[in-house]
Amino acid sequence: MVGHDLSSDVWGIDADKFPTEASLTQRARFLLQYAVLAPSSHNSQPWEFVVEDGKIEVHADEARWLDAADQDKRELHISLGCAVENLCIAAERFGIGFEIAYHDDSPPVIVTLHPDRNSPSGSHPELFDQIIERSTNHHLFGNEPLGGSIQEKLRNCVAEDGVTFHLIEDPGRKESIAELQAEADRLQMDDPEYRKELGNWIGIGALGDPWLKARIGQAVVTYLDIGDREAKKNSKLIQSAPAVGVLTTESDAPPARVKTGQIFERMALTATAEGIAVHPMSQILERPAMREELASLIDGDDKVPLHLFRLGYSQEEQDHTPRWPLEAFLVE
Ligand SMILES: Cc1cc2nc3c(=O)[nH]c(=O)nc-3n(C[C@H](O)[C@H](O)[C@H](O)COP(=O)(O)O)c2cc1C
Repeated sequence: MVGHDLSSDVWGIDADKFPTEASLTQRARFLLQYAVLAPSSHNSQPWEFVVEDGKIEVHADEARWLDAADQDKRELHISLGCAVENLCIAAERFGIGFEIAYHDDSPPVIVTLHPDRNSPSGSHPELFDQIIERSTNHHLFGNEPLGGSIQEKLRNCVAEDGVTFHLIEDPGRKESIAELQAEADRLQMDDPEYRKELGNWIGIGALGDPWLKARIGQAVVTYLDIGDREAKKNSKLIQSAPAVGVLTTESDAPPARVKTGQIFERMALTATAEGIAVHPMSQILERPAMREELASLIDGDDKVPLHLFRLGYSQEEQDHTPRWPLEAFLVE
């Protein structure tokens, strides 16, 4: 991003500084500081915001679309949904109602803030404190099963129509998913464009590595044959997790993808509050034939699997990844 540096300072927002008396545009900008802490594939942060009074258009910035890994833009739309969810949770926290309009074309989402209206029921202001705590956990998980009450809380995160949550815990199906993951990793790492794209994001430090480690990481991913290594590592990560979550939808249009992102972020924040680690893994979904295999494996033949993630317990803390500052995403 020209003129802007990645930094972890963005995580230190002070909620007490919410400008209660300021214009709606200024309040909206304050809330957007929470939106940009959302997860996104390769930490690409592919969002752009046009703010006018209480109307916030959430656009996809195609310059940060992962066109090798995410050819049909699913991850891009899911990432936008994660940012929208943070925005709405923050709005509720400060007593601001909102309305979300979803579109098939651009912009895929418009959030309108209503400071004089109550928030819609069924939303989750209690997740606000988790926004600055959440991070993706890339470590092995312990095999302690997820308790019944956390499973119920995760299921309750699915408020939008047309999205189904599948929780896979049985070792046989987890093993099959781990095998699919290994195959997907080998195929992706065999594609020089995929490796180059991933290498670029690692190289600029988007995944949180300091300068030298980032540059070495970029060279390794771009030039070395590490498909087998990734396959073994990632299939082990899946097997270590007590559960794999998959969100499927009836439609594959942008609104369904954005809603999936909202639900995933709600789940990630809920999991954070419960001390559960979360780790999305997208390689299976990036390969159409493998996505179909996954659908039949989870009894979702008539559905579109959009997002897959490991859930479990981890002793390892994960540092926050950096972000560009909000100003980098505001468009006049
Ligand atoms: C749609 C989507 C797909 C993702 N896919 C992967 C993945 O395949 N592998 C992975 O390690 N992390 C994946 N992530 C996690 C991102 O790498 C992570 O969100 C990003 O680096 C920012 O870090 P944070 O979540 O800790 O804030 C994905 C996240 C999203 C939203």
